[in-house]
Amino acid sequence: MLIDLRSDTVSMPSPEMRRAVFEAEVGDDGYGEDPTVAELERLGAAFLGMPEAVFVASGTMANQIALRTLAQPGEVVVVGAGAHLLQYEHGASAKNASVQFHAVDDSRGYPEPGQVAEVVTRYRFRGHPVAMVAAENTHMSSGGTTVPRGCFEQLLEAAAGVPVYLDGARIANAQVALESSAAELGRGARMISMCLSKGLGAPMGSVLAGSGDLVERARQERALLGGRLRQIGFMAAAGIYALKSNVERLADDHRRARRLAAILEERVGEGAVASPVHSNMVLFRHDRAPEAVKELADREVLANALSPGLLRFVTHIGIGDEEIEVAGDRVSQLVRRRQ
Ligand SMILES: Cc1ncc(COP(=O)(O)O)c(C=O)c1O
Repeated sequence: MLIDLRSDTVSMPSPEMRRAVFEAEVGDDGYGEDPTVAELERLGAAFLGMPEAVFVASGTMANQIALRTLAQPGEVVVVGAGAHLLQYEHGASAKNASVQFHAVDDSRGYPEPGQVAEVVTRYRFRGHPVAMVAAENTHMSSGGTTVPRGCFEQLLEAAAGVPVYLDGARIANAQVALESSAAELGRGARMISMCLSKGLGAPMGSVLAGSGDLVERARQERALLGGRLRQIGFMAAAGIYALKSNVERLADDHRRARRLAAILEERVGEGAVASPVHSNMVLFRHDRAPEAVKELADREVLANALSPGLLRFVTHIGIGDEEIEVAGDRVSQLVRRRQ
């Protein structure tokens, strides 16, 4: 049994989602004539509590468009040191948006408000004001950490009027885990994005939401990045299906991630799991994580090395209870054999 826990992006579209794709009504979205895209954008905007939204190819593209919409080349963007924008987009922000990042600690899952306030004040004092503050919910590099409303409010206050962008690639996970709503969790952000292709199980796509004016500008930036697509309603149909059918079930992914963490803590030892499980990720300490990835692959468990000392397991729609028990056995056997 091959158990793929590398990411929630590996999930496959279900037969029902494939049917929705097959039956989608489409048009040329470059001319704004695809009714299914329009419907997804309406639903995405409502989900995120924003007036409008634009469908884009990926989470990275949403982030890059948000930067280009909210900041000008040479402007300062305050970002968490572990943010996807900074660490996992291969320098895209320097090439695509030419912004200057100022990184602050985000090991608790969001940019430390005290540091954000200090940086915003300092740049303002020098006459080079910060253009944007970026946050993530859930926060990937700290292990799918959820950011509760109160913490986001502290961040908004620290930003002191500087626009806050929320990379909500997995905001649906946060919504379910915190028993809140994406709109509530992101209220006050200038723009918010969310991925359809991660826990929600669609083959591709993200929505980026904001005011009518900002979304209009974001559409221009999408075109500049080559992201204006045509009969893309086929993929929007998968996104609509995902939003309507795959949000509530994320609670199962979270329960399974907690179960995997419990097995590892019990069999490998206390502290084996590096951070509390808030959503669908388990960070597992291993002193030679890249080698462990290969050894686990030989045992048909796929994982990613997040850093030299950390393995990451992600639960998703393709992983059931049995897979979790088997993966827990295989990972703990591998580690015990080494001891
Ligand atoms: C927090 C976060 N933002 C953005 C992205 C980028 O998404 P994509 O892979 O669709 O470009 C990811 C991908 O894992 C992510 O974890």
